[in-house]
Amino acid sequence: MKSYKIVLLSGDGIGPEISEVSVKILKKLSQKYAFDIDIKEEYFGGIAYEKHKDPAPEVTLDQCKSSDAVLLACVGDAKYDSLPRELRPESGLLKLRSALNLFANIRPVKIRKSLLDSSSLKKEIIENVDLIVVRELIGGIYFGKPRGQITNTEIKKAFNTMVYDSSEIERITEVAVKIANQRSKKICSVDKANVLEVSQLWRDTVLAVTSKYKDINLSNLYVDNAAMQLVKEPSQFDVILTNNLFGDILSDLAAMITGSIGMLPSASLNNKGPGVFEPVHGSAPDIAGKDIANPIAMALSTSMMLKIGLNEKEAADDIETAIDNVLSKGYRTLDLKNENCQLLSCKEIGEKIIQEI
Ligand code: IPM
Ligand code: MN
Repeated sequence: MKSYKIVLLSGDGIGPEISEVSVKILKKLSQKYAFDIDIKEEYFGGIAYEKHKDPAPEVTLDQCKSSDAVLLACVGDAKYDSLPRELRPESGLLKLRSALNLFANIRPVKIRKSLLDSSSLKKEIIENVDLIVVRELIGGIYFGKPRGQITNTEIKKAFNTMVYDSSEIERITEVAVKIANQRSKKICSVDKANVLEVSQLWRDTVLAVTSKYKDINLSNLYVDNAAMQLVKEPSQFDVILTNNLFGDILSDLAAMITGSIGMLPSASLNNKGPGVFEPVHGSAPDIAGKDIANPIAMALSTSMMLKIGLNEKEAADDIETAIDNVLSKGYRTLDLKNENCQLLSCKEIGEKIIQEI
């Protein structure tokens, strides 16, 4: 029997609640498809800081490195905001991404038919949206040096550096090409080349790489225009290729097209080695422990893990179908509530999804 080692990082806030649903889904699928799944839970984020004074402890990173895939919920809480930056949960996440060399972050934005009325945008605008944000994840301004603060002067100063070398841009572009080749072969690269040198290099490098592929259709947009176009006519996009910071911002924007950020999964990948699969949303401390969170983004991340990380396509598709069935029956969590829906708790909607598998 095939056997997979999964490291589960349920993290902070709503993390444990949504993780519980995904674990149950995985158990059900492992019975249905006769594979064995060994889920090892490790401390990560704020909770790891509490236990080990480190948001990404070495033991956790070692377990992740030796796994087949990592399933991560979410990290962060305002109560850690006053800690030195390197001890904050978010820094733990960046350390994990960097330690596993996860340079490619894939964020699919797919409209679910039964949620067409849940978006703040008009139905006609969003009905044909099916796009993927390919975000560079371990470079750019998130990691660039120098960075720091000068506080011992009368006027305080703080600075960060947005830096890429061409090899970093090349490898993420190759990922975008691979994905585009399985779709409509359209890539829109997003930058700020009218102002930033780093974006000019980005633009030139993306052009050089994509020119090797005759049937790839490349377009470029400045990030301000891209934000506008995503709201104006999101269906024009297929693969959006962009840097770490712009990808962070645009993927939240694109998430809302689907009705709730509680719906968006992601995969963070390397060319080899385990990937990290996690929802795009944060830890939502304000609703933590209330059993009202939406576990679907995490369940869809679990589906991405099965498909991309473990090559268990049928099991992955089962999760997608189960979620569509549950939504089409009118079941919703609070974030997606509407007049005619049946409002369920996190646990309850989890049970509905499991029943459909
Ligand atoms: C994301 C998150 C992270 C990011 C934070 C929590 C560090 O917003 O995955 O989009 O900015 O990358
Ligand atoms: Mn983000």
